[in-house]
Amino acid sequence: RRLARAADVADLRRLAARRAPRVVFDYVDGAAEGEVSLARSVEAFGRVEFRPRVLRDVAQAPTAVEILGRQIGMPVVLAPTGFTRMMHREGERAVARAAARASVPYTLSTMGTTTAADVAAAAPGGWNWFQLYVVRDRGRTRESLRLARAAGMDVLVVTVDVPVAGARLRDVRHGMTMPPSLRWGGVLRAVGRPAWWFDFLTSEPLRFATVEGAPDDLAGITNLLFDPTVTMRDLSWIRSEWEGPLLVKGVQRVDDAKELATLGVDGVVVSNHGGRQLDRSPTPLELLPEVVAAVGDRTEVFLDGGVRSGADVAAAVALGARACFVGRAYLYGLMAGGEPGVDRALQLIHAELVRTLQLLGVGGVAGLNQDAVHLR
Ligand code: FNR
Repeated sequence: RRLARAADVADLRRLAARRAPRVVFDYVDGAAEGEVSLARSVEAFGRVEFRPRVLRDVAQAPTAVEILGRQIGMPVVLAPTGFTRMMHREGERAVARAAARASVPYTLSTMGTTTAADVAAAAPGGWNWFQLYVVRDRGRTRESLRLARAAGMDVLVVTVDVPVAGARLRDVRHGMTMPPSLRWGGVLRAVGRPAWWFDFLTSEPLRFATVEGAPDDLAGITNLLFDPTVTMRDLSWIRSEWEGPLLVKGVQRVDDAKELATLGVDGVVVSNHGGRQLDRSPTPLELLPEVVAAVGDRTEVFLDGGVRSGADVAAAVALGARACFVGRAYLYGLMAGGEPGVDRALQLIHAELVRTLQLLGVGGVAGLNQDAVHLR
């Protein structure tokens, strides 16, 4: 109904804003400081100019691609996001199930509110990945890796752009606490979003699935958990601990990408964390071609930040990305309508991707290359 009428991810975002309390919506929708990085990341996709070929047979436009040695349904990976059960009571489980249905990987965050075992049980047929923040207690890091591996998660994504918490000013202004309580919303806001509050108050309490006794404000949790002393040496240590594919997420310079490639990582994710960490950091879509040129022959290069449509995915792949991670796009769907909302977001992205390939005169994702686009 409402979901089926959503014609794009922007419509899902509008539905999400109506359903979720402002403080929850803003946690997802917002970014760091002046939100310049976020705006630029999205805007860069608007500067893509496609260069279509005409009179090609485009009856078929297959979207499947191979990443890290395995085939997936389209070049999309669901990005790790924290506190996903705050967006909807089914949280990580709903997202993992929707990802499995669309044959795309799902990445569980260290800040997740569902355990690796529960995600695996919810979506046993899916390709579930684990995202690691190296925490101050290395024993705990090792334990997280063990639990992820035991749950069958074979790809590790190490996020490296959070030495300290970014300043998400919308959260600061809302006085956001973790877990959320009626304190920040106030009863007035609760009246405006009864369905969300009913769900929230009747579901399992929101808490970290991996961390005991964490403080209740987001910046406090972040600073307790994240270790600003982490270096490339720790990454070598993780490389030696983890047998499966290892990706490093949050790469923002060509020289760092080169250094990581020499450490034997299987992939780098060109990302500024959706603009949620260092504001005015490089725009992923603009940086992507340089990173691909420098290390693309040695390691797989992924992109995230600002991907809102299948046309965006096509543009990023044409510029050299193996696949795009998407964060907010599926979270808007989740807030708008739970699991069917995530399904809807993925259906929209897939349909847009197919249509873009056909209109571009490209016979499938495999036919995309630099020739298909130009960044104005
Ligand atoms: C994130 N992101 C993130 N990344 C990560 O490595 N671990 C995490 O726990 C989180 N948490 C998180 C929460 C929320 C609400 C958002 C929106 C994002 C960043 C995420 O993985 C990804 O890099 C960005 O979301 C990509 O940008 P888009 O697609 O949201 O524009």
